[in-house]
Amino acid sequence: TFTPRVFSGIQPSGDLHLGNYLGALKRFADAQDKGVQSIYCMVDLHAITVWQDPADLKKSTRELCAGFIASGIDPNKSILINQSQVPEHAQLAWIFNCVARMGWMGRMTQWKDKAGKNAEAASLGLFAYPALMAADILIYHATHVPVGEDQKQHLELTRDIAAKFNHDYGVDFFPLTEPVIEGAATRVMSLRDGSKKMSKSDPSDASRINLTDDADTIAKKIRKAKTDADALPSEVDGLKDRPEARNLVNIFAALNDQTVEQVLADVGGQQFGTFKPALAELAVSKMGPITQEMSRLMADTAEIDRILAHGATQAREITAPILKKTYEIVGM
Ligand code: ADP
Ligand code: NA
Repeated sequence: TFTPRVFSGIQPSGDLHLGNYLGALKRFADAQDKGVQSIYCMVDLHAITVWQDPADLKKSTRELCAGFIASGIDPNKSILINQSQVPEHAQLAWIFNCVARMGWMGRMTQWKDKAGKNAEAASLGLFAYPALMAADILIYHATHVPVGEDQKQHLELTRDIAAKFNHDYGVDFFPLTEPVIEGAATRVMSLRDGSKKMSKSDPSDASRINLTDDADTIAKKIRKAKTDADALPSEVDGLKDRPEARNLVNIFAALNDQTVEQVLADVGGQQFGTFKPALAELAVSKMGPITQEMSRLMADTAEIDRILAHGATQAREITAPILKKTYEIVGM
């Protein structure tokens, strides 16, 4: 049996957006006082699976750390790290590269989406990404990973890798980690296309709400969000074939710590001309303080660097013994 421990990561590439906030950061902050040791990671090694300008990568990593703190994650309660500063992640990933099968990787939908039709030109790292992700999680023997729905398949692969390692070496060493996918906004969709998730890896999506947007920009993006012409329903069933409407209601619910049912009980019957301004006001009131705190923190990067260095020291107290034991199991 494994002691409960939480791990989750976010890529320092591009701007943090509302999907990252509601699907990840806000939930991490909400869970913080449950007394479970939690490690949150800026996954820079994942970011470079596609080209990153070095100066931008450095800035994005610090900005992401600022985003974590501004969202309410307290570095005195949780461990905040930058992946490349804890070398055991990459070391365990190599072992897992030798455990995972090519066929498993080839089936990952994110690989297929990101490599597209030109897989020959994709980096080897992009293909192997899920094995590094498994190492990120299992180097802590993490039992729970809070993520958005987009990461479900990678979490299943993490369990497959743990199970195959345990089986191949006849041990019960790595836990079968559970994804934690809950809340109203586990999949925030693009505001211009309700069939696509809001993502930082889609630079052409100008509708995306970023954590660095000012109040006017947020309000404008919500005003312009694609919708249909009907009034909002008062029951969840009424959102069934209305992906854009459902997305905006989900966002409202998650921002306001309500269920979708509660929101619809209040706004059912409203037109978007009424609902959108209310949503914009809510989004601005919740995100504005985060944006301000992020820019305050970014004015003193030495403080951020100190927090990440301290986090790495704390993390290695966990990762070094687990790597050592892994090497022993493998015969190294
Ligand atoms: P992105 O997909 O924007 O590149 P990451 O892959 O770094 O972001 O994901 C960081 C975290 O944010 C993960 O937990 C992921 O599940 C979550 N996440 C990303 N996009 C969304 C979204 N549109 N809705 C909900 N959660 C999301
Ligand atoms: Na993602």
